[in-house]
Amino acid sequence: MGSQPATSIASPHKVCRASLADTLAVLKDVVLPTLAKGPLIRRRKFVGFAERNHLDDKAVKRLQALRAKYGPGPLVLPIPFRPQAVLLARDDVTAVLEGSPEPFKAATLEKRAALGHFEPAAVLASHGPERTTRRRLNEQTLETGCEMHSLAEQLAGVIAEEMDLVAGQAKSQGVLDWDGFFTGWFRMVRRIVLGDAARDDSELTDMLQDLRYRGNYAFLRRKDHASRDVLLQRLQDYVERAQPGSLAGRMAAAWTHPSQKPNHQLPQYLFAFDPGAMAGFRTLALLSAHPDAGHKVREEFAATRNEIAPRLAFLKSCYLEALRLWPTTPVILRETTQRVQWAEGHLDGATHIIIFAPFFHRDDETLPQAHSFDPGLWAGGISRPDLALVPFSHGPVVCPAAHFVPMVATLALRRLLGQTSLRLAQPERLSPRRLPGTLDNYTLSFFASEPQQS
Ligand code: HEM
Repeated sequence: MGSQPATSIASPHKVCRASLADTLAVLKDVVLPTLAKGPLIRRRKFVGFAERNHLDDKAVKRLQALRAKYGPGPLVLPIPFRPQAVLLARDDVTAVLEGSPEPFKAATLEKRAALGHFEPAAVLASHGPERTTRRRLNEQTLETGCEMHSLAEQLAGVIAEEMDLVAGQAKSQGVLDWDGFFTGWFRMVRRIVLGDAARDDSELTDMLQDLRYRGNYAFLRRKDHASRDVLLQRLQDYVERAQPGSLAGRMAAAWTHPSQKPNHQLPQYLFAFDPGAMAGFRTLALLSAHPDAGHKVREEFAATRNEIAPRLAFLKSCYLEALRLWPTTPVILRETTQRVQWAEGHLDGATHIIIFAPFFHRDDETLPQAHSFDPGLWAGGISRPDLALVPFSHGPVVCPAAHFVPMVATLALRRLLGQTSLRLAQPERLSPRRLPGTLDNYTLSFFASEPQQS
């Protein structure tokens, strides 16, 4: 490996090599549960199992013990043919994310294998000049960096229509459960992403769902090329229809080069709204379990009553807190494109780097409020690289929808909470003194009634 070109990273830490026993322990406590939950689409039963068995807490404890034993530098797991390095220091997380995509490539082998099942030319699976042009298309469409998208007011109308239906159904049944919320949420998402014509095109999202289940197995399952082609063709049709007011319409206008392949970018727009819903439902649970925050949210609604699409700063920070407490992208992955020198020691080229977000988000040895609800952490924006709180990642590969998603979610929750009063049906699962390491969104539900008049 001595002949590899080398670069260095500004980090004070030392690279260490884990013993075989510790390598197996990381695989058992960190890697396997993450894979079992489903990297691309969650396996519902396993999420419940993880909550009941405190699997995320165990993973955090395992990495804390390894940091105490080896120090905070990257810990190399000497796995034959595919060495892995787990990051244990906040400043290394920042340096690696800011050093992406060179020398820390986002399009890792594993990611390309998984995404290849349905979006092989997605920006997340791209590197080099293709990444640059595809990233540009995504940023233009989603207006990355802008807190409020220029379509906000138009989208607020769509959001209101769909959330009113969710609220109406919940009140008539007296309960809001995951399926009721998610069905309405996804009708809203299809309209936002593809346009009104896609509102009831659940066939498209079901097709994508099947391909995502295949994607969970990455290299271990054959690709279903026929279904993938049908999906991509249907998405291309929506791009060509380019409905004004939809993201597909925006993308069609911003698209300048064939290699940008809009139809390969759009599956991510649809499927990444799943975690958007999970975080939204968990935010509702947090607000119910923390009445002071619920009260502050209602004050924010009252103060912005006359605005169609207000910036809801406090509610947004609650949503970001839900994502910190239960990160929906638990692992951020990178691959070294060359040998990288640390203060002491190095990582070889083609080393797979694992950033396990729950470790940093719930590290009670360094973050006093690790297990409690503290929206104040988010006063400064969508990431806290100083604390390695990175629900949307950070740096040049940061989620291009990092403002768009909270904007949609806060407008949706505002509408829903304006129409219904929601009380968590399982308050014992959310003790404010110590919030659980995993929160199974699928089995949460709320008693729904007419809103209190303020
Ligand atoms: C709660 C919802 C979401 C969360 C927590 C989230 C988080 C993330 C994270 C952590 C990454 C990986 C970045 C990295 O590897 O450093 C990512 C990538 C990405 N996300 Fe999101 N995301 C969400 C929803 C969305 C939505 C709804 C869209 C599109 C409308 C979207 C578009 C993308 C794209 C295109 C990438 C790839 C960026 C690149 O490779 O340059 N995300 N997201």
